Amino acid sequence: MVKTIRVNLGQNSYDIRIGSGTLSQTGQILKEMGFNDKAIIITNPIVKKLYGTSLKQSLINEGFWVTILSVPDGEEYKSLESAGKLYHQLTEFGAERTTPILALGGGVIGDLAGFVAATYMRGIPLVQIPTTLLAQVDSSIGGKVAVNHGKLKNNIGAFHQPRTVISDIATLKTLPSAGIVNGLSEVIKYAVIRDEKFFTYLEKNLDPVKSLDDNVLETIVTKSARIKTGVVENDEKDMGLRNILNFGHTVGHAVESVSNFEIAHGQAVGIGMMAGVKIAAELSLVDSKAVIRLAKLLKKAGLMTVLPRLEIEQIMQAMQFDKKVQRGKIRFILPKSIGEVFITDDVSPALIERILVELK
Ligand code: NAD
Ligand code: GLY
Repeated sequence: MVKTIRVNLGQNSYDIRIGSGTLSQTGQILKEMGFNDKAIIITNPIVKKLYGTSLKQSLINEGFWVTILSVPDGEEYKSLESAGKLYHQLTEFGAERTTPILALGGGVIGDLAGFVAATYMRGIPLVQIPTTLLAQVDSSIGGKVAVNHGKLKNNIGAFHQPRTVISDIATLKTLPSAGIVNGLSEVIKYAVIRDEKFFTYLEKNLDPVKSLDDNVLETIVTKSARIKTGVVENDEKDMGLRNILNFGHTVGHAVESVSNFEIAHGQAVGIGMMAGVKIAAELSLVDSKAVIRLAKLLKKAGLMTVLPRLEIEQIMQAMQFDKKVQRGKIRFILPKSIGEVFITDDVSPALIERILVELK
């Protein structure tokens, strides 16, 4: 059965469709939404080989004229150069202002194809078809699209909401286990920021997640998508509340960049969440039991809870370059309890440094 979550954003509202086998219903869904004629799939060679043919066929069955554009796999291809090549291919195919771009893949493809959809002809329709856990619970929802430029991640971008998100749980079966662990970090983040019951559910159900049980995967994708939707509906353009989605990301992004991206995003966010809960405990804002519960869950998920051999001075410096720095102050999201967080600019650099030393 397909679960539908409505994202209420006025004229930019859309449905997230979550289920097993939804990918092969894409043609029908798009037809019902009023699309016809042409459709463009943007993907990478790995995902194309796995799911390109069935997606293309579902569109052809409904009378669409389809092209598949493939971008090499990897974060380094989330660039203006790749966008430039795609604009050229869109023109060659005869894309019009009503032609939808279907982003088939993980967050890299979603962000790049989304950026192209946001900018080509001042914006054409975007459909997100996320195939990683991270993309299904996070990057496909909320309309942030971007490319990287120079050394900075996601610094050239736009808000461009998709017309729909089609999350096929079955595609998660081909993900390597590290991909599941990476996405789990964001899932745990949602539980900490918004939903204590969900945290308890995760404490009891991580084993079936790892063995890719359909029901449990569907539950965690649905619960996470609902939490993200609730936040985005209240702050589409990231002016306040949406910041809470960055729990664990202040330290996480710095760890990721100082490691030259050798530490995966999810792993880095795991360390960042530990730093956050420890800072809150040190300031007596959260019960120390929360520190123990979070560390236990992260470990069980296969995530890091201690800082690998990186220079703390470099991590402190990297935090200053983060998009979350405002007027020189580093913004932190700290838990009050499992299930509730708040935003603060008042964490002293000395305390951050002390906690990082403790995490070594
Ligand atoms: P990714 O897109 O690089 O995918 C990870 C790997 O999995 C890739 O090698 C990909 O080819 C492969 N893959 C994808 N689907 C597969 C499948 N079903 N089976 C087997 N292999 C598959 O990484 P990601 O973790 O999905 O996304 C990371 C990106 O998302 C980053 O660029 C990050 O900045 C972005 N992001 C964006 C937002 C947002 O709100 N826009 C939020 C979080 C992250
Ligand atoms: N991934 C953070 C956000 O969408 O705001």
